[in-house]
Amino acid sequence: MQHSSIASRLLVATLFGALTLSAQQSAGPFTVAQANTGRDIYERVCAGCHGVDFEGSGDAPSLAGGTFLLKWRAKMVSELFGVILQSMLVAQRTASAKQIAASDYVITPKVSHIRWDQIRRADELIEAGYKAGNESAPAIRALIWPKSGTSG
Ligand code: HEC
Repeated sequence: MQHSSIASRLLVATLFGALTLSAQQSAGPFTVAQANTGRDIYERVCAGCHGVDFEGSGDAPSLAGGTFLLKWRAKMVSELFGVILQSMLVAQRTASAKQIAASDYVITPKVSHIRWDQIRRADELIEAGYKAGNESAPAIRALIWPKSGTSG
């Protein structure tokens, strides 16, 4: 479908930083590899709500077709990019909430004081993960070997 393909190009292009959608519409603003990566991620992360063919479902709007284009055609690609980033955060939160609910034990390093984009603080993140992992070891051991308890 024509609209679907335009929308998917927009999504893939914005997802992978090809924010420089050039004025000439004919040349693709992204590589085949980027498009494939985008499709894989969309199917894995987004399609559950927005549909495999961008048709939408429940509260999640369609990401293709007339309504979508009516809303987004006139806007900056960077605006759409912002919405997608937000969506990904929401999706990630939803996914982790499900994973946490399905887990026997959750290790929670104390890292809330570090922002997600403070990459140069990676050492602190690793250290906090190591510490929380160590502290959780007895409880995990007790889950795996209930009889030996937390003593070993
Ligand atoms: C848990 C369900 C869910 C997942 C997963 C999800 N979304 Fe959404 N998305 C929504 C909902 C609900 C809205 C409407 C939010 C609103 O209107 O405030 C939305 C809105 C959007 C919009 C704005 C559409 C418009 O016309 O305003 C875009 C673009 C979008 N999502 C892209 C994505 C992408 C890309 C992904 C995957 C990386 C994704 N979404 C994953 C539920 C989801």
